[in-house]
Amino acid sequence: MSLEEVCAEVLGRVTPSEEERRRVYEIAEGVKRRLAEELSRVGLEAEVRVEGSVAKDTWLSGDADIDVFALLPPSVPREALKTTFMEAARRAASGYRQVERWAEHPYLECPLNGLRLNLVPCYRVEPGRWLSATDRTPYHTRYVLQRLNERMKGEVRLLKAFVRGIGCYGAEIKVGGFSGYLCELLAIHYGGFLETLREASEWRKPTIIDPEGYYRGREDEAAEIFQHPLIVVDPVDRGRNVASAVRVEKLSLFIAASRMFLRKPSLKFFFPPKREPAPPQQLINAIEARGTSLIAAAFNPIEAPPDVLWGQLYRAERAIGRLLRKNGFEVLRSGVWSDEKRVCILVYELGAGRLPGVVRHVGPPIWMVEHSQRFLEEHLGSERTLSGPTLEGDRWVVYLRRERRDAVQLLREKLGDGGVDVGVPRLLSESIKETLHVCSEGEIPRLCSKYVGFTQFLTDFLHGRPTWLG
Ligand code: CTP
Ligand code: MG
Repeated sequence: MSLEEVCAEVLGRVTPSEEERRRVYEIAEGVKRRLAEELSRVGLEAEVRVEGSVAKDTWLSGDADIDVFALLPPSVPREALKTTFMEAARRAASGYRQVERWAEHPYLECPLNGLRLNLVPCYRVEPGRWLSATDRTPYHTRYVLQRLNERMKGEVRLLKAFVRGIGCYGAEIKVGGFSGYLCELLAIHYGGFLETLREASEWRKPTIIDPEGYYRGREDEAAEIFQHPLIVVDPVDRGRNVASAVRVEKLSLFIAASRMFLRKPSLKFFFPPKREPAPPQQLINAIEARGTSLIAAAFNPIEAPPDVLWGQLYRAERAIGRLLRKNGFEVLRSGVWSDEKRVCILVYELGAGRLPGVVRHVGPPIWMVEHSQRFLEEHLGSERTLSGPTLEGDRWVVYLRRERRDAVQLLREKLGDGGVDVGVPRLLSESIKETLHVCSEGEIPRLCSKYVGFTQFLTDFLHGRPTWLG
């Protein structure tokens, strides 16, 4: 298929039908009206508006996320967002399933089938006088709407669908990728979808995009201020990088996928075929054939917003990786999987899960008088010494008994108390202390049969290659 054919086909699939639009607008308008009523009933003077991708007409068909915002006067105390606002929101959304969410900010989320409703408070303030994280949104909506015509809405949808297809959509910690607003700014700045991919193919580090030219001629300053791999200066706030959530892996993935798509256009980028989850025994055989070891640490999730959970999971993953390396294990790679409800699983592929019982420890050259003496004193009487100290060339060398030969045992031992001293974050350590289960390949099939999503994850993990690369 040619670039044009692929884009036309994708656009057909991601542009909402009239019927979907009607349904989305009907729900949005209904909730907007009820929220306005409920707020005025409790004496909160607010303007209620539809914001986000529904207001901008840039949502992807089948994935509508209706953001209904209440713009409150700055005199409303922050505490009232959690209490008065949330109560009014719950009544306005009565009849829908409701999940209370908060990050820096409380809001109410209602999952409906095929779409999601968000009731969000913010303050109506002048630009720059931000009181809460969501105060910029009405300005974002206005900025984007003023710059989109029908054709450009399509360009935004193509870019969002591409970014989603390659697994880079979302500014949440779990993904570390591109927000919807970021996609809009890129499409607007470069003038379209393909234009954005062409530019991205040639991005250099650090990439600074400054649509309103706030840092014109002072780009170094922007790089200094933001310190992120991708910098897109917010047109409504020169002090904010819209791309601050983008991690370097996701940025690289986007650049690589852009190049590859332009060379070999395909629908795969937008609608990646699901890799069939392999039968667990086949996964085990694959690991055996590679001659490596796989170990998994499973434990219960914590009661916390997803951003907190995933932030702690990634930190724990790195901390445990360091622990393994420090103890002589070769960590080839690692990954995290969680359904956020029942279980979290950290997996490590190791060169070997069991190490030799001896460690070769190289000491100082004999020319260093003091050090040599100290080395001998330390190791001569030690019960860990198995051979030596001996001289190899001009250096002292001693062969010590390895304290922990088995990776599974090491983790059981070091994480049994939660692992705070090896660097596991506090909240997660509570759960690890209570519910940790460490296992090697042998028990992986059991984990797979218990958690279907984990089998899919392991299949992709072992493949270790984006589907669009073949
Ligand atoms: N927003 C932001 N930065 C984020 C997340 C959200 O600035 N990391 C703001 C933007 O103003 C955005 C609004 O919050 O327009 C709503 O967020 P979201 O629903 O994530 O973005 P949409 O533009 O609605 O895109 P979509 O829902 O299609 O993903
Ligand atoms: Mg939205």
